[in-house]
Amino acid sequence: MLVDPHGRVVRDLRISVTDRCNFRCTYCMPAEGMTWLPRDQVLTFEEIERVARVCVERFGFESIRITGGEPTVRAHLPVLVEKLAALGVDLAMTTNGIKLPEVAADLRAAGLRRVNVSLDSLRPERFTQLTRRDAVDAVVAGIDAAVAAGFDPVKVNVVVMRGVNDDEVVELATFARERGVEARFIEFMPLDADEAWSAEKVVPAAEIVAAIAGVYPVETVSQGSEPATRYRYVDGRGAFGVIASVTAPFCGACDRVRLTAEGKFRNCLFAVEETDLRALLRGGADDEALAAAVAADVGGKWAGHSIGQVRFVRPARSMSQIGG
Ligand code: 5AD
Ligand code: SF4
Repeated sequence: MLVDPHGRVVRDLRISVTDRCNFRCTYCMPAEGMTWLPRDQVLTFEEIERVARVCVERFGFESIRITGGEPTVRAHLPVLVEKLAALGVDLAMTTNGIKLPEVAADLRAAGLRRVNVSLDSLRPERFTQLTRRDAVDAVVAGIDAAVAAGFDPVKVNVVVMRGVNDDEVVELATFARERGVEARFIEFMPLDADEAWSAEKVVPAAEIVAAIAGVYPVETVSQGSEPATRYRYVDGRGAFGVIASVTAPFCGACDRVRLTAEGKFRNCLFAVEETDLRALLRGGADDEALAAAVAADVGGKWAGHSIGQVRFVRPARSMSQIGG
């Protein structure tokens, strides 16, 4: 087992497979001027698999999530899914959903089990403003394709922002209920490339829950180690979750680490230091050396991110460069 200095067991690896994306969500990327990593700097599937295997075999990692950028823009993604599924872990992916109608069935067949699809508004104009792509219908079709392909559960990630989409919380909850998928409302975090984040734009999770509970009676579901607090609809039609990343950070129960597309290992979304595993992978390091580098990085993991406090330092990378 891999235990960090605060006694938390690390079991979850989030792997960004690309820094590229076919959307430009305002809370993540600038409208223009993103520079992409040159292809030769991005880890190959074999390199990704090797890091994942070391984490699973040496340290007993139990889950892996594929992220980006937008993971489905990486060519031949099912080939990687098959390699990772062979490790026997709980395998999930976070996606903007637009390519799911094309790729959902292949990803499912390759061994992917769960998907989270981002959808922050159902109103076409607002969706287009938020993502800078006119694609709300395509994303809804992607959610339907994920359900049809047998992903279970399908979750819908909603980043709630004051004055942007906070009036749509109940509509989005209703949408998810009706489709048999689970909404997860996420507090807006300071990871946007435009640096437009401010504390006033954060809608507290408690307010989100109150809005939904005002329409549908809900009860709390007992809490595991996941960051979301979950609520069940009393009428039996599913559940939703809220992730209070800012008002009540889940850092105390954090079990995750990250690998960026170019092979930097990070022990926190907000980490300011990283370990360059690509240099080791390409420099002929053996598994022992890789495992030692992972363990050393985890040895520097802090207690929490302290967003909103004076000592908070914004990471130099935005969400798409870190991996959601
Ligand atoms: N704050 C909160 N969540 C974010 N995401 C992307 N940027 C932010 C941010 N600034 C979420 C998206 C996506 C996942 C990868 O991360 O909703 O679902
Ligand atoms: Fe792309 Fe996801 Fe960032 Fe939106 S949030 S720009 S879909 S990587």
